Amino acid sequence: MADLSRRRLLGGGLVAVGAAGLAAAGGGAAVASRTPERMGSATVDPHGAHQAGIETPPQAFASFVALDLADGLDRDGLTGIMKVWAEDIRRLAAGRPALGDTEPELAVDPARLTITVGFGPAAFDVAGLPDRRPSWLRPLPAFAVDRLEDRWSGGDLVLQVCADDPVVVSHATRTLTKNVRSLATVRWVQRGFRHAVGARPDGMTMRNLMGQVDGTVNPAPGGPDFDRQVWNQGDPEWLRGGTSLVFRRIRMELDTWDELDRPARELTVGRTLSNGAPLTGTEERDDADFEATDRYGIPVIPPESHVARARPRTADEQFLRRGYNYDDDGAGLLFAAYQADVDRQFVPVQQRLAEHDALNQWITPIGSAVFVVPPGFGPEGYPGDTLLG
Ligand code: HEM
Repeated sequence: MADLSRRRLLGGGLVAVGAAGLAAAGGGAAVASRTPERMGSATVDPHGAHQAGIETPPQAFASFVALDLADGLDRDGLTGIMKVWAEDIRRLAAGRPALGDTEPELAVDPARLTITVGFGPAAFDVAGLPDRRPSWLRPLPAFAVDRLEDRWSGGDLVLQVCADDPVVVSHATRTLTKNVRSLATVRWVQRGFRHAVGARPDGMTMRNLMGQVDGTVNPAPGGPDFDRQVWNQGDPEWLRGGTSLVFRRIRMELDTWDELDRPARELTVGRTLSNGAPLTGTEERDDADFEATDRYGIPVIPPESHVARARPRTADEQFLRRGYNYDDDGAGLLFAAYQADVDRQFVPVQQRLAEHDALNQWITPIGSAVFVVPPGFGPEGYPGDTLLG
């Protein structure tokens, strides 16, 4: 074992699996031949036009960490945090210990670790650049369904730390927060999980804790819809290749949900529980037919069902959902949506759902935060360098 670790540290055993590689490795054979060693040593490149962790096929575990900047911190201080994090990210993503890592052994198998950095509204005041703050970077409007708690909301900075190994997530989270302790304090940490690697065929859509197939209608990584929906196209120029994160902690009322029979559950969402097919189809990826009626003239997919209310009314109303389950302190969904423009894409959909959605009886938003996610950075750069540099 020691030998194996040493060889890996020297680079010999590292298997680089980029986002595309994993997406392509969908077949059963790839799963069967995967050894735990190889899964742990898989890496995702942290550099590029976009930050890692958004287009990356979702890892099994995530921690979302919000931090508040220390009073009196200025632009140099904020830039300093980003430079420290850039170095930490570079090292940890490659399976190398961070500088001064107190638990270097925990860095060896990064298990597709990605760390994505975002700025909350106040970061622009700290940086002395309030004019550069995107107009949509502010708390969401209050929705009638909200029961928001401070302890799950807001933040000046966010880290989305994802990996296929929860020990890696924990170590990376501690390293990054510890290394900037005097400059920023942790406001909240929210931990989430999906299915373990190897538990199901790669590429299969996850299930949430209501048992539903969740994430079917989403832009395909690398495709034109993804580019259009998720990445800022250069307005403003510093944000080209960046995006926004809407993060909501949504509690599920599982005890009352349990009282519903199966057909009622399926009518609430508009899709089947068995494979997530629309109620008008048989396969998960079949197009939903919202016009179809039964022999009594009643719509097959109820107009008040979650998907009928959530589906886009305009081409703008689309975004990437990359959420995680949680079951500490209640159960629910760490809903994470990425879009180029919060006001244009996300808010109209959330507004419509808040007005009416059959699912609302069993879900309650209890946390909310909005962040801008700066573009990707290069081997010499850091998150936000196009803004702060
Ligand atoms: C679709 C569950 C919250 C937006 C779905 C689907 C499920 C689901 C099972 C169908 C499969 C799929 O396409 O993913 C949930 C649960 C939620 C929740 C359990 C809360 C705990 C939200 C929120 C939004 C949202 C807050 C946005 C404000 C959407 C959209 C779709 C969708 C846009 C795709 C609609 C379509 O075009 O067919 N959701 N959802 N969901 N949901 Fe949610």
